[in-house]
Parts: sequence; C-alpha cells; structure tokens
Amino acid sequence: MPQEEPLALVIFGASGDLTKRKLIPALWSLFQGRVLPEPFVIIGVARSAMSHDEFRHRMREAVAEFARVQPPTSHVWDRFASSLSYCPGSPADPALYERLGALLRQLERDRGTGGNRLFYCSTPPSLYPEIVTRMGASGLHRETPGWARIIIEKPFGRDLASARELNRIVSRVFTEDQVYRIDHYLGKETVQNILVFRFANGIFEPLWNRQHVNHVQITVAESLGVEGRGLYYEEAGALRDMIQNHILQLLCLVAMEPPVSFDADAVRDEKTKVLRAIRPLAADQVEKVLVRGQYGPGFLDGEHVPGYRSEKGVASDSATETFVALKLSVDNWRWAGVPFYLRTGKRLPRRASEIAIQFLGTPHLLFRRPDLADRLEPNLLVLRIQPDEGSALTFQAKLPGPEINLRSVTMDFRYGTSFGDEPPEAYERLLLDAIHGDATLYARGDWVDVAWQVLTPVLEAWSAGPAPKFPNYEAGTWGPPEADAFIEGDGRRWRRP
Ligand code: BG6
Repeated sequence: MPQEEPLALVIFGASGDLTKRKLIPALWSLFQGRVLPEPFVIIGVARSAMSHDEFRHRMREAVAEFARVQPPTSHVWDRFASSLSYCPGSPADPALYERLGALLRQLERDRGTGGNRLFYCSTPPSLYPEIVTRMGASGLHRETPGWARIIIEKPFGRDLASARELNRIVSRVFTEDQVYRIDHYLGKETVQNILVFRFANGIFEPLWNRQHVNHVQITVAESLGVEGRGLYYEEAGALRDMIQNHILQLLCLVAMEPPVSFDADAVRDEKTKVLRAIRPLAADQVEKVLVRGQYGPGFLDGEHVPGYRSEKGVASDSATETFVALKLSVDNWRWAGVPFYLRTGKRLPRRASEIAIQFLGTPHLLFRRPDLADRLEPNLLVLRIQPDEGSALTFQAKLPGPEINLRSVTMDFRYGTSFGDEPPEAYERLLLDAIHGDATLYARGDWVDVAWQVLTPVLEAWSAGPAPKFPNYEAGTWGPPEADAFIEGDGRRWRRP
C-alpha cells in the first residue's frame, strides 16, 4: 500500500444517483475495511438546499440500500458521518467556489487533513467545463500545501470535437497528472485480471497473436433497459455509452503489447498504441462493419417489458440505438487479419460480459473420420467479466469407447470457488487509486481522443444517413437478425454466453 495520506474529497453532483448508489457506498466499504486514509473529509456539493445533517441522513440511507458490506451500526456510522459535510450551490455561481474554499480550509484546519484535495465531477457532463473553469478561477486546483486531483466521470465528451474541447479546458486548469478520467470497467477485478492472465503466465502469450487466433469476440450484454435514465440515454446511445469507453478499454487490454513496466504511463502508452492501430473506418463502409438496433417490447424472464420508445424520457420516434455490433481490425504485426467483433445491447436475454478468443483449428485432421471435420469445435478461451466471474478453456477430448469419437470439454476457473470472498466494487479500487495518486486504471487524455477518432466515421455516417428503421429487435432476444447475418457473412457465429 502506498503511504497513507489524509485528504478532503469534494463531490460535485452529490444529490445524484452515482453518489448514492456507488460513491458513498464505496467510500463506506473502504472505511469499514480500514483502507481509507484518516483523517478524511467528504464534502457533497449540489444545488438542493440541505443541512449537513440532512445530507448525512440521506447518505446513511444510501449506504443501507446499496453498500456491499454490512449496513451501518450507529457507532461506526457516527464516526464516518462526522466526516461528511454539505455545501449547497449552483456550479455556475462563482460564490459557490468561495464558500467551498472557505469550508475546505476550515475543515482542513479542524480535522488536520493537510491540504490534499480530491475533486469528483459527477454532475451532468454539460457542467464539467463550467466547474473546472470556476475551480481554476478560484484557485481550488492549486497544489499548496498538499496535492489536488480531479476525477471526471464518463462520458468524456459526446464526440471528438467536444472531447477535445473538454480536454483543452481541463488542461488549462490542471496538469495531466492531476486528471483522472474514470472508466469503472477498469476497476473490475476481472478486467484487471486480463493483464495478470496474459503477463503473469507463460503459456498463453505465445498463442496470443495472428498465428494462433482466428478472431476475438467481446460481448457486454445487459438484460436491463435504461432504468429511468431515458433523458441521458437519448443523448448517448450504446455507441457512446458503452463502446467508446468500456468496450474499447477491454479491446485494448486484450490486444496491447506487454508494457515495459506496470507504471501508469507505460500501460497507457501501450493501450493508446492499440487504438492507433485500428484500421480507420470509411464513412461509406460503416454499414458493412456495424449493425445497430433498438429494442421494441418483448419478454424477459417471462415478464412483459416495454419497448425503448415507451421508456420515460424517450421520444416516441427515437432513433437512439440500444444495440451495436461492430467489427474492427487492429492493423499491426500481432493482429493483422484477426477481426475483433464487439457487441453490446440493452434488454438482451441475460447479463453477460465476456471476452472470447477463438483459436485456429488444427492444420490437418489425423483421425480417419471425415465426418468429424465439420463437427470439430475450435479451441476457445473465454474470460468471463461478469457474472460467474472466471475463465474457461475449451478443447477436444476422446469420448470413452472403442471408436474415435470426440467431444468438446471445458476447464473452468471460477473466482467464487477459488477465492470465496466477494470482490470489491470497481469504485472502491478506483477511488483508492486516485487517493494514492495511481492513474494506471484511468483513461489518459490522448486515449480518449483516439477512441473518439475511431468512432467518428460512424457518428458522421449516422447523422448523414436516413433515420434507422427502429425498433428492430424484441426485448429478450440477442439483437436484430442483421447482427447474426453480419458475422455469419464472415463464416463465424456469435456466441450465446
Ligand atoms: C455505465 C452505462 O457506464 O455502465 C450504463 O452508462 C451501463 O448504461 C453500465 O448499464 C454497465 O455497468 P456494469 O458495471 O453494470 O456492467
């Protein structure tokens, strides 16, 4: 563990969903696990008028409902709650930053947190430029006497131009090493394990290339719909919400070269190189490499669920995609000719995120059974991100008996069975890393920029073309039929996780 450093954490957007569901429960778990450096101060900032006590009360309810670890007992909660304060105000009002500065100085003095400050932007993203600029104007970003860091919640921009503009605004106030662009997928244990799997084992890496891999499928399937976030989702859609960040991060972890060390910049350099190697899509080719969809009404687990256009906050003729399947090529020495198929969607039959690496078949079939050739399944390695966290390797075995008959069998590693304990929440790990000044699991500005560059032709083709014919898949199915046709055209099939 790096050296313990006391700190003050300021959360902009403290009355929002993320604070309630993820941030405060994560901080509570860290506190209970005795890994949150002490003393600490947490200041919630939001528009609503609220006293410190009301804020504490709301956060206690949030912890009781959403925390991974046991609900608060009075004694321990009181100690945690005594570190919570609230500062009401509009992010557009310069007076807010004056009040916040005064409150910070007072709490830092009273509680001895030494001037280290971590700011968390968890407001609607349209407010980020204003918050950052005003923080700069009021001097809150300065590193005296302690450090100052800022975590910026996704989405980072809504296209290349807005991401660049935000990067520009942020870099006028903060240096890059003060900035932590969060992608909560990188905090998941199973995602961190991709690098351990690849680089702490000798047997996989020699196979991890075009000589042995036929193709890679990355699936992030959700059975949930938009869960009351219709207004946000209408502006986002699956491409911006999942592909531009979480799924491209997964692709980078699978495809990157070994970094020279596990330092933040060494790891992030290699990930950015992967994005730079992705073959640029031509706007007029987008239809050939991408299928989008939107769910209509259907059934999930036997229950009827409404279509996307009937969700709260969604337009009745919405053209927002809730499903994307996409093929990318990584044009470098290791991956030339190996397609990466990416797929994500809402209201799919089940929640399942996985990375499947399908290996090439054997060069020659030794067994004198021509009928076997068609039935022989290629070796497959599946890294299960969630649920059923683990990994599985499928290979051929001889079915017992006098004849040569083959059957696919699987070697399976499960986190639950091997390690027992429930893994920490992604936000716990990521908050702790930012507190310790480790940005390895955060996105760097140049990565975000190239990720938007990769997807810009898609956004351009969509805005220039006719409105899509939506809805085109039923809730509770694996997306539009075109998504199957699209991969089958390459002689391959989607897995059904
Ligand atoms: C968020 C998206 O970033 O990730 C949501 O905005 C999505 O739409 C969520 O549901 C998925 O996260 P997880 O951790 O549940 O897989």
